[in-house]
Amino acid sequence: MSTPSALYAQRRAALAKTIGPGGIAILPTAPEQQRNRDSDFLFRHDSYFYYLSGFTEPKAWLVITGDGKTTLFCQPKDLEREIWDGYRLGPEAALTALGVDAAFSIAELDKQLPALLDGKDSVWYPFATHAGLESRVDGWLGTLRARVRYGTLCPQQQRDLCGPLDEMRLIKDAFEQDVMRRAAQISAGAHVRAMQLSARMLRAGQEVREYHLDAELLHEFRRHGSQYPAYGSIVAAGANACVLHYRADAGLVQSGDLVLIDAGCELDGYASDITRTFPANGQFTGPQKTLYELVLASQEAAIAATKAGARFTDPHDATVKVLAQGMLDVGLLDKNTVGTLDDVIEKRAYFPFYMHRTGHWLGMDVHDCGAYTEPSEIGQTSERKDALTGEVIKNRPARILRSGMVLTIEPGIYVRPAPGVPEHFHNIGIRIEDDAIVTNTGCELITRGVPVSVAEIEALMR
Ligand code: GLY
Ligand code: MN
Ligand code: MN
Repeated sequence: MSTPSALYAQRRAALAKTIGPGGIAILPTAPEQQRNRDSDFLFRHDSYFYYLSGFTEPKAWLVITGDGKTTLFCQPKDLEREIWDGYRLGPEAALTALGVDAAFSIAELDKQLPALLDGKDSVWYPFATHAGLESRVDGWLGTLRARVRYGTLCPQQQRDLCGPLDEMRLIKDAFEQDVMRRAAQISAGAHVRAMQLSARMLRAGQEVREYHLDAELLHEFRRHGSQYPAYGSIVAAGANACVLHYRADAGLVQSGDLVLIDAGCELDGYASDITRTFPANGQFTGPQKTLYELVLASQEAAIAATKAGARFTDPHDATVKVLAQGMLDVGLLDKNTVGTLDDVIEKRAYFPFYMHRTGHWLGMDVHDCGAYTEPSEIGQTSERKDALTGEVIKNRPARILRSGMVLTIEPGIYVRPAPGVPEHFHNIGIRIEDDAIVTNTGCELITRGVPVSVAEIEALMR
């Protein structure tokens, strides 16, 4: 395996090759975000920027030219600022630390960019990603154009840098897979601890709130070196589990209820994303177990459908088939009203209980970049009318899975009280989510450090 700094250089070289000798790519890291007055949100680098540099300081830009040269702009050394805000690498040290060809203070950006753009034929930057970036580029092009009488040459094309970078990031190399396995392992351990804490506190007669479990997750993430959660943790007790984007709050965790936890840590720039649903006191009730095992069976079908050569939509289709049949079997759907399994799927009659997709790409971003349609089949578009909304939807062939892609597999069932819905299922919300690396023969589930079967969860919480 390459060392990280060589790895970033390899990625920049691959990008330079893609944009060609006349190309120039311009990429800022993320902006700092004010929280209030002079307090900022914790800084998190831009994922594309990090992918090409491994550099996590704010106020930095990369410029990569088609000849394979990289110029970094970063915060200059400044003792006074470093006393307040901490260490800065600075341009001089960046040359060796990051292996770039040139490095300047960020204050030089406007001066250097027109010269770097001069004579290039196409300028690449991420479209619709950084507010104000387009006008910065316009400004540099304007400066260059103002000097055409002195012989400067302006690029003729602007291209979206997200295109080539999304394709690169979609396939995770061995180094990335290794970081993702470690992130997944930490998150799995955190879920185990939250499950155990819930049962232990209830057994001791203590009041349990969602934030107690959230604190347990955070503690486990941080004590293993995770920088922060990869997204806002969902810790949803009882009926709160039916709110898809619920956040860990102060809800009471009661014996007899299910708890849905959707939480994963970010480790060294990579996300993990796990959901487990468990009985607060460690013992599933009959109806909870019925629906839990249905969701688990649908997840098993999706896992079996996840392999190189399959389509991104295959796991979802497999999930829906199992869930829809199960909904008919357990009486969530009445066959006299909705008809056969085919009717349920065709008319999306399962939708009130299962309204999201079964997965997404996972990587540096929890909903990672990468096209969900197959680039080699982009011309093959058909149209269909959605049975529920009547909306005309473009059907483009779904992405063909390849070894090294990473995705989540996360079916669920959410039962809100409604007329005709059996009462014993009311307010049950269940999701089971694991992270999978696609392999040639199937997939590697990297999040199974936390158990998933009814028997194993009950044993863990006993
Ligand atoms: N936690 C976000 C998701 O599951 O997509
Ligand atoms: Mn997810
Ligand atoms: Mn999730």
